[in-house]
Amino acid sequence: MMLFPGSSNPKLAREIAKSLEANPGTASILRYSDGEIGVKIDDSFLGRNVYVIQTGAPPINDMLMELLIMVDAFKRGGSRSVTAVVPYLPYSRKEKKDVRQDPISGRLVANLLETAGIDALIALDLHADALEGFFNVPVVNLSPVELFAERLGKLDLNNTVVVAPDMGGAKRARRLARALEVPVVILEKIRPHDSPESEIMTMIGDVSGKNAVIIDDIVSTGGTLVNAAALLRERGARDIHVCISHALFSDTAPQRIADSAIDRMYITDSLPLSDSVKIDKLEVVPIAGLIAEEIAALTNRP
Ligand code: R5P
Repeated sequence: MMLFPGSSNPKLAREIAKSLEANPGTASILRYSDGEIGVKIDDSFLGRNVYVIQTGAPPINDMLMELLIMVDAFKRGGSRSVTAVVPYLPYSRKEKKDVRQDPISGRLVANLLETAGIDALIALDLHADALEGFFNVPVVNLSPVELFAERLGKLDLNNTVVVAPDMGGAKRARRLARALEVPVVILEKIRPHDSPESEIMTMIGDVSGKNAVIIDDIVSTGGTLVNAAALLRERGARDIHVCISHALFSDTAPQRIADSAIDRMYITDSLPLSDSVKIDKLEVVPIAGLIAEEIAALTNRP
């Protein structure tokens, strides 16, 4: 087995390698003056099971292209197999059409990865289950829920509910609620077409006098979380905690979260945290061990 990190999240790649006690191989990434990306694999990988570690961090199109070119190089260079380890899968939020003219970009990315030659994909908390069906190669969709549950288990969980901030997140919320042995509350969110901001329509369940743990896969503008937290506080919730798999933190999200009713926010390190993100209430839950365990399990399979 050989690990090859792309340039999207070197810290995560180092931690995965450390957990596996492996020396990662190196790939030099070249940038040409016209913007094209070149890849030169510096270590021999002939006949090896290669794991390319690349997440959908900004600049996301470059990172995707880098991944595709690396997979191509390994495929053409005689690796035994190529597994893409992509904790945050680029374009996964566009897995369906909202209107007839829409693309399904998530499907396109799946096709691109397969055309490049991946033999398997390891991802973390895919935005929708449908994405797994876009691939004809095996997909391992790791869940960070148990890691969050472990962290939250240190709190007083009496009188606590887990909150799904939209219908699509109900399954994830139920899994966390099961792990914590607490009830679930579900919010109904709508996103008016052509608007990046969401609105909350209905709440199923009761949060009055209770601590609330909101769980979601992605934070981008922060609108979903900030609106959900405001509603929960308005309905009488006490401490509000948040668990997020992929912290994209675009726009003014950090400031909005800092100013919001959220008391504590747990995020995984599926994406690198920019130095400009300064939120006191933030705690990082590392995923390297989870990914390393999966790689070890696949590698040691008879
Ligand atoms: C949407 O379906 C996702 O699960 C997240 O709720 C969404 O991507 C969060 O985006 P934002 O932070 O911009 O509200």
